Amino acid sequence: MSDAHVHPVQPAWKKNALIDNETYLKWYADSVGDPDKFWDEHGKRIDWFKPYTKVKNASFEGDVSIKWYEDGLTNVAYNCIDRHLERRGDQTAIIWEGDDPSDDKTVTYKELYEHVCRFANVLKKHGVKKGDRVTIYMPMVLEAAYAMFACARIGAVHSVVFGGFSPDALAGRITDCKSNFVITADEGLRAGKRIPLKDNTDKAIEIAAKDGIKVDKVIVTRRTGGKIDWVEGRDFWLHEEAASVEPACEPEHMRAEDPLFILYTSGSTGKPKGVLHTTGGYLVYVSMTHQYVFDYHDGDIYWCTADVGWVTGHSYILYGPLANGATTLMFEGVPNYPTPSRMWEVVDKHKVNIFYTAPTAIRALRGVGDEWVEKTSRKSLRILGSVGEPINPEAWEWYFNVVGEQRCPVIDTWWQTETGGIMIAPLPGAIDLKAGSATLPFFGIIPELLDGDGNIIEGEGSGNLCMRQAWPGMTRTVFGDHERYVQTYFSTYKGKYFSGDGCRRDADGYYWITGRVDDVINVSGHRMGTAEVESALVAHDKVAEAAVVGYPHDIKGQGIYCYVTLAEGVAANDDLRKELIAHVRHEIGAIATPDKIQFAPGLPKTRSAKIMRRILRKIAEDEFSALGDTSTLADPSVVDDLIANRQNKR
Ligand code: WTA
Repeated sequence: MSDAHVHPVQPAWKKNALIDNETYLKWYADSVGDPDKFWDEHGKRIDWFKPYTKVKNASFEGDVSIKWYEDGLTNVAYNCIDRHLERRGDQTAIIWEGDDPSDDKTVTYKELYEHVCRFANVLKKHGVKKGDRVTIYMPMVLEAAYAMFACARIGAVHSVVFGGFSPDALAGRITDCKSNFVITADEGLRAGKRIPLKDNTDKAIEIAAKDGIKVDKVIVTRRTGGKIDWVEGRDFWLHEEAASVEPACEPEHMRAEDPLFILYTSGSTGKPKGVLHTTGGYLVYVSMTHQYVFDYHDGDIYWCTADVGWVTGHSYILYGPLANGATTLMFEGVPNYPTPSRMWEVVDKHKVNIFYTAPTAIRALRGVGDEWVEKTSRKSLRILGSVGEPINPEAWEWYFNVVGEQRCPVIDTWWQTETGGIMIAPLPGAIDLKAGSATLPFFGIIPELLDGDGNIIEGEGSGNLCMRQAWPGMTRTVFGDHERYVQTYFSTYKGKYFSGDGCRRDADGYYWITGRVDDVINVSGHRMGTAEVESALVAHDKVAEAAVVGYPHDIKGQGIYCYVTLAEGVAANDDLRKELIAHVRHEIGAIATPDKIQFAPGLPKTRSAKIMRRILRKIAEDEFSALGDTSTLADPSVVDDLIANRQNKR
C-alpha cells in the first residue's frame, strides 16, 4: 500500500478478533457468490417463532420489491430482551449517563423487560394496535428506549423525531405518517439547559390538527418536573399509567416484512421522506454488523454517542447491541459539558471498551487542546468508531494518536438512514486501515461506482456510489409513497440503489467517500436538504427568493450558506439577518441555523430560470476564480455582485 496514513492491523487487534483477513475474504466471497445460502445461515442469529424457508426475494427493477425471510415470524423486542433473560437477566442492558455528571442509572435485562412490558401494556390500554404509527419525541432518557421497544413488542410502528426539531417539523412528521399517538417528556435537559418538549408537542398537535390529523393521546414522561400545560383526557403521565398495568406482555408474532419503524430523513427535494424499515432482515443486519464491525465480545461495554432520534441511535445504541446481549450506554448530554473532558470521563467512569462517535465531535474536541483528553485514563478503550460524515485524515490521526494512544483501531463506518446498517467499514482484526477511508464493504455488499453516463467504473476511479444487490437491512419503501422510493433510489441508475454520495476507489480497492453529489448537506453529521432551509426562508414575508448551499466548515464539516433576495422595498441589514436566522431555527430547529446569510439582489439563473447552484457553491467556498462558464446565465452581471458581497472571505 503506497498511500500515506496507512495503519496495518496490529497483532493485538488480531489476537482475539472474531474475523481475521482470511475469514473476511472467504465470507465476503461466499456472501456475494451465494447470498441465499450466506443469509440463510446468518438469519439464524436471531430467534424466530416460526423459521423462514425463503431467504431473499428482491428486485431493484421495475416497481422495486425487497423481501427477506418473508415467511418467518419473529419479534424485535423479544430478540433484544426476552431471549437474553435466562442467561443475562441480571446483566446491565443499558447504562444511562445523565446530562449532569452525578446523574446515572443502570438497567438490567430483567428490569428492561418489565419496563418495556408495562409500557407496551400502556400503549395497548390506550388503544394502540399493530400497524399504528406512534411518534416518539423524547430526550435521551431510558423511557425513549422503553417506548421504542414497547412499540416493537406490540407491532406498532415508531417514528422517532429528534428532540431538537421545532414544533413545525414535528407536526409535519406527525401528519405525514398519520400518527394519532405521541410519546414525549415534560422537558429535555442538555448542557444544563431545558428543552420544552411537551410545549413543542402541544404546538405541533395544534398545527397537525389544521392539517386534519388529530392526536388523541399523549404519554408524558417526567424528566425535569418543569411546569407544563395539560389537556385532560388527552395527556397521561407515563409513571401513573405504567403503575396501573400488568408487568408482562406477550410479544406479537410479527412477519419478517412487517414494518418496524419510520424515520424521516432529508433528500434533495421536497419534504423529508419517511424511510421505512421492517423487522427480520433489519435485525439480522444490524446485529451482525454491530458484532463484526466493532469486534464486539461478550461483556464489552459499548457506547455510541448518537441520539436515538437518528438512525445511528436506532441501529447502534439499541437494536444491534441489545440483539447481541450487549451493555449499551445512553448519554443524555453533550461532549463539552461541563468540560471538554466529559466524553473521556464517561469512558473512564463506565470502563467503556468500544466508543462510536461522529467526526464533528472529534474535530471540536481536537480544537480545544489535547490536555482535556490527556488528563483522563481511557485505558479501557479498545475500538474507536466514526460515523455520519467524511472524517478528514487530520481528525482521524488525532483520534487514533491522542484519544486511542495508537492502541485502538479507528473504524470509519459509511452508511445511511436508508441502508439501515453499516455498509463500508474495516473489520478491526481483518482490514488494514487508511486514515480517511471507510475501507472495504461488509458481507453481502457490492458497491459500484458509476459515471454520469451510467458507465460502471472498474478498478481505480471516482463516481457515484451505488449498490448492485439488495441486503437485509435496507429500507423497503418511503412511507405512503412507494413511487418516490423508486424515483429517489432506483431511477438514476436503472436496477441499482443510488446512495447520493460520491466516492473514489483507490488502487487497493479501498473506498473514500467524497460527500453528497445532490442538494443534501451534512452539518455536524446532521443530514439536511438545502430545499428545506430554502422553503423556511421564503416562508418569511420579507424574503422573495432564497438559495442555500453548503460550504466547508472546520468543525461542522459543512456550514449553511444562504443567498437571500429580499422582497421589494425591504432594506438589508444585520437585524434582518438575525431575524432570518431566528426564523429558520423556529421553522426547522437549531440544527438548521444558517451560518452565513448573503443578501443578493439577483441569483444566477439560466435562461430557463434554473438557479445555477454550482456557481453559488463556488462563491460560498470563496473559490470564485473557478466559476466555469457563466455565459449561459440570463444576467451574467449578478455574479459580480455576488462575489463582491460574499460572506466567506478568507
Ligand atoms: C454521510 C448516518 C463519509 C453520507 C448513518 C451519507 C458519511 C449520509 C459517513 C447519511 C462516513 C455517513 N464517511 N460520509 N463514514 N457516514 N456519511 O442518513 O453523505 O444521517 O449519505 O445516516 O452521511 O446520513 P444519515
